[in-house]
Amino acid sequence: MRALATGPRVALAADARRDAHHRVAREVAAAAAPRRHVVGARRDAHARSPGPSARWPPPRGFATGPPGVASAPPAVVRASASDAPDRGPGFGLGSRALDASRLDARGRVPVGARTVILGIETSCDDTGAAVVTGDGRVLGEALASQGEIHARWGGVVPNLAREAHESAIDDVVARALAAANVSPEKLSAVAVTVGPGLSMCLRVGVVKAQDLCHQHGLPIVPVHHMEAHALVARVGDGETANESNESNESNDDDDDALGRAPFPFLALLVSGGHNQLILARGVGEYRVLGGALDDALGEAYDKTARLLGLDVGGGGGPALEALARRGDPKAYRFPVPLRRRKDCDFSYAGLKTAVRLAIERDLGKPADGDAFARARGLSDDDKGSSASEGDAEDPSFSAEETARRDAVRADIAASFQAAAVKHLEERTRRAIAWARESLANDTKPEPSGNLSCVVVAGGVASNATVRATLGAVASEAGLPLVLPPPRWCTDNGVMVAWAGVERFALGLAEEAPSAEQVSTPTEEEPSRKTRREVPLLPRWPLGTKDARATGEVKSSKTARIAPPLRGVSG
Ligand code: KG4
Ligand code: ZN
Repeated sequence: MRALATGPRVALAADARRDAHHRVAREVAAAAAPRRHVVGARRDAHARSPGPSARWPPPRGFATGPPGVASAPPAVVRASASDAPDRGPGFGLGSRALDASRLDARGRVPVGARTVILGIETSCDDTGAAVVTGDGRVLGEALASQGEIHARWGGVVPNLAREAHESAIDDVVARALAAANVSPEKLSAVAVTVGPGLSMCLRVGVVKAQDLCHQHGLPIVPVHHMEAHALVARVGDGETANESNESNESNDDDDDALGRAPFPFLALLVSGGHNQLILARGVGEYRVLGGALDDALGEAYDKTARLLGLDVGGGGGPALEALARRGDPKAYRFPVPLRRRKDCDFSYAGLKTAVRLAIERDLGKPADGDAFARARGLSDDDKGSSASEGDAEDPSFSAEETARRDAVRADIAASFQAAAVKHLEERTRRAIAWARESLANDTKPEPSGNLSCVVVAGGVASNATVRATLGAVASEAGLPLVLPPPRWCTDNGVMVAWAGVERFALGLAEEAPSAEQVSTPTEEEPSRKTRREVPLLPRWPLGTKDARATGEVKSSKTARIAPPLRGVSG
């Protein structure tokens, strides 16, 4: 979460609605719960998945092609839209499969420097838009973050997030187009995040994309949020972080770290809602080597920041990282999670508890901790000082005591970060070995080639310690580390636009929605855009789980999970 772009206006709206939120206890619980998506996902019972074969007949001829945009394609000519394959979940935003006239003899869309795609991201608390060309030039980008809105609640409140997206979306898209100097009718397509995320937030972006596409006759490209995080590493000209001499000061927007990751690569995706290690063989071709058994790392950063009473208006992760710089990472011996489990899964719940106990022992419970927790419906785990209190300390403390407490907090932050990142390091080292083993055994339909690099992406990948540590792991394995620049690690429009380019090139898009699809039901609140039925995928796995991954990953608990994302050969 970053500085607020439309802050004052949205904050006022938030104030006006505060009473309503007090009445709805579940909303408050939502605010306190892990920022993620757990809250949103539970609230998303109404969201529907179109299912793998909702729209088109089963795939024909697409099963044999090797993965990857540049690889040799299957020889398929689609005679008409009705001949189109079923492309799995995520489709149904447009009227029908891409018209045959757009496709080449291989059933793909020729994409190049003149292809211009607008990407729209609204899955959580950032409204992002960007315009990117088919050869990876970013022509314009715009972002409105909601950090300040949610900071007072200690987490993302879905209703407030939706309101903020609704008030920002037109402006953000207009700013991205203006920066790119491109008018909407000149676009080649619009890409939009369809899931995973908070469905009431996803809907805002999808409705905007559908409207634009309908109005200007543009194809629409559905995008998986985590695929977009991974693929943004492929935007650029081939320079890698290892080559660019990245230092600990690299937390600036250093475009030097930009790199292009050829398939197959290993991706460590670390965000607020996800912790995953995936082997990426091609677009839509992902094997999940490990996932989060409980909290994701971004969530653990956010919760720890709140427990330490930091001002989380600019995001818990960046606040904790800044505090950790002043601390001693060896001052506290927090347990490195899951050392006995020889797999690639992640767990941060135990570390979070150890940190909470250390805080209570050495700093005491915040005076109003329980009252605060009750008022906001926080669970035991979430008790802490008010996020909006910032670093305020009890004025009755002596100068020495204040200094001691400050040093303790910095030491706890640094020690938490050391254990947390060590866990990433250990799991990634094993995942490199697993990925290499998989690729060595991978002979069908033909060898996939050697692992090319390690990609680290998602919000936590903007952390300098994470970047430096994973750089060391990669180079120890003789692999380049590819890091998107920090501003493309947290949620943004560029990653969606670029994932849109990659999927559009494979023909994984649809023709503009029909008038019927963009019409708004009239019964209740006819003016409200969000009333329209749109097929969203709030719970959508990125790929299938590797056979060596034994852990029951949190997100596989319920039946509302959509089938995994697919590429052309899925
Ligand atoms: O990818 P992202 O923007 O949104 C999700 O998809 O969840 O990731 C946001 C997460 C938040 O939990 C935030 O605290 C964390 O990434 N984050 C960081 C840093 N910057 C953002 N965590 C640690 N250090 C950072 N510098
Ligand atoms: Zn994200």
